[in-house]
Amino acid sequence: MEMKGWEKRVTLLAIAGGIAGLFILGGCTDAAKTSKNVDADAIAEAKQKFQPLGKMPIPKNNSMSPEKIALGETLFKDPRLSGNNTVSCMTCHNPGLGFSNGTPVSAGIEGKLGTRNSLSVLNAGYHTSFFWDGRAKTLEEQALGPIENPVEMDQNLDELIKELKGVADYQQKFKKVFNDEITKDNLAKAIAAYERTIVMDKTPFDDYLAGNEEAISKEAKQGMVLFAGKANCMVCHGGPTLSDNQFHNIGISGDDPGLLNVTKKDEDRGKFRTPQLRGLMYTAPFMHNGQFKTINEVVSFYNKGGDKTPNQSELIKPLNLTKEEEKALVAFLESLSGDKK
Ligand code: HEC
Ligand code: HEC
Repeated sequence: MEMKGWEKRVTLLAIAGGIAGLFILGGCTDAAKTSKNVDADAIAEAKQKFQPLGKMPIPKNNSMSPEKIALGETLFKDPRLSGNNTVSCMTCHNPGLGFSNGTPVSAGIEGKLGTRNSLSVLNAGYHTSFFWDGRAKTLEEQALGPIENPVEMDQNLDELIKELKGVADYQQKFKKVFNDEITKDNLAKAIAAYERTIVMDKTPFDDYLAGNEEAISKEAKQGMVLFAGKANCMVCHGGPTLSDNQFHNIGISGDDPGLLNVTKKDEDRGKFRTPQLRGLMYTAPFMHNGQFKTINEVVSFYNKGGDKTPNQSELIKPLNLTKEEEKALVAFLESLSGDKK
């Protein structure tokens, strides 16, 4: 069959189109492959920036022993450490709530309200300073603070030592552990030793860091890339605990002076210690004033660039994350929680 001129042209065009199409298709799969590689490369590169929690540092003057840890745990859970024997450390640092207490600010003795969110004791032994404003330098120093705090346990320490000396079981245990009688110093040491065992390091993310590629979802991996990149979280939440142990004003509205209380420097107004991030699934609400109920709210806050408070850190800026990116970042933060202790 003979083709007319226009038919020939159309046929040729169709053949040419087909060939071009093949090229384009081929090109497309190539492009898809490359973007997949870019993705995998970005994930591998981000992963390099993270570290496992590592070994708990133990101070030379307070070595660990099973008996000391057990004594510390008993003290941590004993309401007799408070003025009217109703409040223990566990009241505000509840193992079922990630060693935190689930309310924005915590109620201590006779329901008196403090002004700050109960910090989790999870991984606290890794910190280089304690409390939201870093006012204690060691866990040993920290432990005696809440006992005397009038809105927490409201107990005079000298009276407490007298009271504990009247408990035969404590007398024996202190003797065995410290070869000494009950003193403030030994009390603090036992509690601190127990706190150093409150560690969360078996999270899906830690499993992933250790080499199990399947331990976290693709979405969480994308969140990890954002955390280390576009969302800029790692400038402050870096290192093994995901805290730089420094103080920043991230732009939370309110009148808590934060670090200024300790340093008396105006530039430190509203600065708080960067919290570690493992166990977030259990430790809500978040921030020094407990203003966010969910991890999603925290991420939205960072995405909008904080409340733009007067002394806000220049590291906090609008992030322009899409809804999908916010979700991925949340999935990553969720992968930082293992089973409850
Ligand atoms: C009434 C509630 C309450 C009680 C009781 C309480 N705490 Fe706390 N704890 C808090 C709050 C709130 C903070 C944060 C306070 C701040 O930063 O000013 C905190 C902070 C801490 C921290 C600091 C963690 C960190 O990351 O810096 C440790 C450790 C701690 N408490 C241990 C204890 C121990 C030990 C006891 C018992 C002797 C105790 N707490 C009793 C509410 C309480
Ligand atoms: C400039 C340093 C800085 C940057 C950047 C930063 N953070 Fe924070 N983060 C902090 C400080 C400081 C706090 C405590 C602030 C407060 O309570 O006022 C905090 C608190 C948090 C909390 C609450 C933890 C708790 O236990 O209450 C989460 C979750 C968190 N940050 C995640 C992130 C994520 C995700 C990013 C990135 C989008 C990010 N942070 C970026 C310093 C920073």
